[in-house]
Amino acid sequence: MFTMIKMFKIGLILLVFLSFVSCSDEVMEPLEKDKVYNLSFPSYFPEMTFDTSGNPVTKNGVELGRKLFYEGRLSRNNTISCGFCHIQENAFTHHGHTVSHGVDDRIGIRNAPAIQNMAFLKRYMWDGVIHNLNEQPIIPITNEDEMDSSMPEVISKLSSDSKYKKLFKSAYGDENMTGDRVLKALSQFMVTMISADSKYDRVKQGRENFSSEEAKGMNLFQQKCASCHSGELFTDESFRNTGMYYNTQFKDAGRYRVTLDQSDWMKFRVPSLRNVEYTAPYMHDGRFYSLEAVLNFYSDNVEDNPNLDPQLNQNGHVGIAMNTQEKQFIIAFLRTLSDKNFISNPKFAE
Ligand code: HEC
Ligand code: HEC
Repeated sequence: MFTMIKMFKIGLILLVFLSFVSCSDEVMEPLEKDKVYNLSFPSYFPEMTFDTSGNPVTKNGVELGRKLFYEGRLSRNNTISCGFCHIQENAFTHHGHTVSHGVDDRIGIRNAPAIQNMAFLKRYMWDGVIHNLNEQPIIPITNEDEMDSSMPEVISKLSSDSKYKKLFKSAYGDENMTGDRVLKALSQFMVTMISADSKYDRVKQGRENFSSEEAKGMNLFQQKCASCHSGELFTDESFRNTGMYYNTQFKDAGRYRVTLDQSDWMKFRVPSLRNVEYTAPYMHDGRFYSLEAVLNFYSDNVEDNPNLDPQLNQNGHVGIAMNTQEKQFIIAFLRTLSDKNFISNPKFAE
């Protein structure tokens, strides 16, 4: 077992080293020959929802997308890139802020969710307003509290830069810069952000074992949480009212904002829990700073309301019954969803 792990570690170091080497090659090369980017993920993952026929994921497209993701000129005053709010070491969330801060430090209304496994989701944002990943980036680029820019403005800034001329040519065959191409390159990059190398995955693949705490935690999780946080991404992507008070500072009623249907009041998309250890603060408005606080909420502070999810109101008990030790076990399990290689992979860095 020890030598297996050691061999695995050496393999990993080698792999990381090699990817450094190939990474710098990619930057140095004139990027002429493009080729299909190999997206690999475990067989137990759900089917990919991302349509690669409409937006083929290629090595050079991803490289362009990576540059754009870390490009401040996507914002009005050239200071805010996607990576400013979506920080890799926090699984592409923003650790320091409850809700996002954009240009001129303007405050948004929502907590930046993790960007990972986007290729497998059916809808995006806390309220599910976006269905197609290729369209998502237009929201932050134009939102006045985020980047406060516009596609024509972005294109005019980038088109004078010879670096981008080269990158667009290598990704799309000619230097023509369009909004559509910007969006598609960004989503190609995001599609490559696959997180599937956590302890949970290694256990699933028979390469490691849970500790007894983690195993107990998984059992409890399956009983108490997996009805919503289901499947391999730990979300059923439904919208649920979890009995959280309406935050009058942000006036965000979740799914209701999209449907204007009273029965959707305060329903939010169930978030994936992969890498949740790295993504504090939690919930749509970042109201909780720790996993302990989230679990204390579920056990003690769920508020009854007409839309409260029936899962959280069973046999007259509002909330999820858990004692302190059970919470510790569940947290131990949640930590097995952490994927260190994902948050340190140089492929996703600036
Ligand atoms: C000012 C901070 C900020 C910036 C800049 C920003 N985002 Fe976001 N991002 C957020 C917030 C907040 C949300 C959640 C919004 C919502 O639910 O309405 C979000 C949501 C997302 C999502 C949806 C994730 C999911 O699970 O549904 C994606 C994808 C994303 N952003 C990509 C990008 C890209 C690409 C850029 C750059 C073009 C970008 N973001 C720029 C804060 C930011
Ligand atoms: C009825 C469905 C449902 C059940 C049951 C449920 N959750 Fe959630 N969970 C949600 C929804 C919806 C959110 C987002 C709520 C929001 O932000 O307003 C959420 C958010 C979270 C978050 C914050 C994630 C983030 O990125 O901000 C954690 C952690 C979490 N749940 C863990 C659990 C655990 C552990 C259990 C079991 C003890 C559990 N949940 C049971 C629906 C559920």
